[in-house]
Formats: sequence, C-alpha cells, structure tokens
Amino acid sequence: MPSVSVLLTVLRELTTNERSPRVNEPDLVMDDPEKVAAYTRAGREDGVMAPVYLYHCAQICEVIRPGDTVIDLGCGPATQLAMVARLNPETQFIGLDLSREMLQRAQSHVEEQDLNNVELRQADITDLAFLQENSVEAVISTMVLHHLPNVDALGKTFAEIGRVLKPYGGLYLVDFGHLRSEKSINYFAYQYVDRQPELFTLDYLYSLRAAFQRDEFKRLAEKYLSGHTRIYSTFLMPFMVAIKSPPRANGDPQVRERLAHIKSRLPDYHKTDLLDLCTFFRLGGLKSALLFP
Ligand SMILES: C[S@@+](CC[C@H](N)C(=O)[O-])C[C@H]1O[C@@H](n2cnc3c(N)ncnc32)[C@H](O)[C@@H]1O
Repeated sequence: MPSVSVLLTVLRELTTNERSPRVNEPDLVMDDPEKVAAYTRAGREDGVMAPVYLYHCAQICEVIRPGDTVIDLGCGPATQLAMVARLNPETQFIGLDLSREMLQRAQSHVEEQDLNNVELRQADITDLAFLQENSVEAVISTMVLHHLPNVDALGKTFAEIGRVLKPYGGLYLVDFGHLRSEKSINYFAYQYVDRQPELFTLDYLYSLRAAFQRDEFKRLAEKYLSGHTRIYSTFLMPFMVAIKSPPRANGDPQVRERLAHIKSRLPDYHKTDLLDLCTFFRLGGLKSALLFP
C-alpha cells in the first residue's frame, strides 16, 4: 500500500490548476566529475536507485532476445546496462553517451564485471548516423530523455529510433513525466534525502523539472515509432512514462530466477519502493511479468 504522502501527492496532481514549466537541466550532458561520481554512487546496484534499476531491467529482459544487437541511448555509468548485459550474455549491447566522463565510468564498470557483450561509444542520441536503417533488433533508454534541450530534440531522437530499429523490434524507453505542481516535484526529489548524497538530490530535482509531458511523448511516439509500441504511465499521475513494444522473449526461467534472486536481496525499504513502482505502473496498464508473475 503506497504511503499517505504518496497518495496526497496523487490527489494534489489530480486537483491542482498549476502547470509547472519545463526547465532545462543545468547539465544537459553529465560531464561534471563530482556530479558523475554522485550519480554513479547512488546508482550502483545497492544504491538508492536499486529498485528502479531492477524494475527497468526486468522490463528490458522482456523485449530483447539472444543474438540481438541492442542500443542503449544515454547509458551513463552503465549500471543499468551492465545489469541487463549480465543476465543476457548472448545479446550484444552498444551503450551510447555524449559524456566522456560517464563513458570512462561505464568502461571501468563493464571491465570490473568482466562483460564481453558490451561496447561503448561516444554519440549524440539525436543523431545516430553511424547506424544504418533497420539495423538493430532493440533500442532501450532509461532516465535520459529529459536531458534533451527541447521537444525538437526529443522528436529527432524518436525519428532516429524509428529509422534504425528493425520492424517489430524491441523497445523500452522510460523517463520521468512532467508533474503539474512544483510541490509534487519537490516531494519526490526530497523523498529520500537522508539516503542519498546532496548532489544526487539536486540532480533528481533538476531531472523532474526538465521532464517532458506525457502528451509530448505520446504524440512523437505515434509519429515516429511503429504502431505496435504502446505508451504507459504510472497510474493517475505520470511520474514515470514508458514506451514499450510487446514482449519478444518468452521468459527464460534462468532470467526469472536471477531477477528473483536480486529482488530477494533488496533491503525491505527498497522492496517497498519496487512494489509501489510495479503497482503504479500495473494500474497504468504496464505489467512486470518477470518480476511479479
Ligand atoms: C541520468 S543519466 C542516465 C544514465 C543511465 N541510462 C541510467 O539509467 O542510469 C543521463 C545520461 O544521458 C546522457 N546524455 C544526455 N544528453 C545526451 C545526448 N544528446 N546524447 C547522448 N547522451 C546524452 C548524459 O551524459 C547522462 O550520462
């Protein structure tokens, strides 16, 4: 059961007349070494983002297959990417990011984990000219799109995804959605202030302020992405928005087991967060078949 403060936030979002403006991230590309370090620390698999990484990992595992080439747009320090790559050793991944600092972190992380199915490349996700039309089996992206400067750049990114993805390819794009009230944005940003470095809290606040509207995602997905993908958001309040293709994998039992193992090792407060995220997405139409069969 979500906490009273979450339910009050939902109520505020449903009733407010406020329309908080979108404010660009101060660092569109994350190059500042201190911020990169804070994001990396909070983001490692036992950090504050652990339940979110696990949730997205399970969603991604549904849309990729052995033998695929998968592009990860804005891989950052590769925490998410390495987690998915470890569970899918027969799939090849290419992580793209514009930030050298992030790519260096990503490279060390991939080497520490001894992964030989991950390649990293410096690239701008709004221009994937190095990839041919219909050349990749799946595209994934987690918590990146709000870094784009405007809706035009978001449209260019979606157009590029539509161009490089093979017909009926796998897709899982997820990001924050724009909340109406500044108070709701502050609520989420400061919710775990005691569990995370201050720089990470600020980064989270800026991310929520920079989030695009659900309707903007929907319009661009309809224009550029194949008709078989669908848009989902957390129930009643689009705190998170996901665009996903139908599942392409039939739930490898080994992947299920390993996801269940990771879930079982989460501390109780992370298990609660994971369940909340699953519940809000499930009520918004998106199931997590591998985590909660
Ligand atoms: C918040 S991090 C997310 C990293 C990772 N996907 C995750 O889930 O932890 C956003 C990343 O997007 C990268 N980024 C922002 N704009 C980009 C662009 N136009 N092209 C490529 N990467 C970009 C940033 O440098 C940063 O590493």
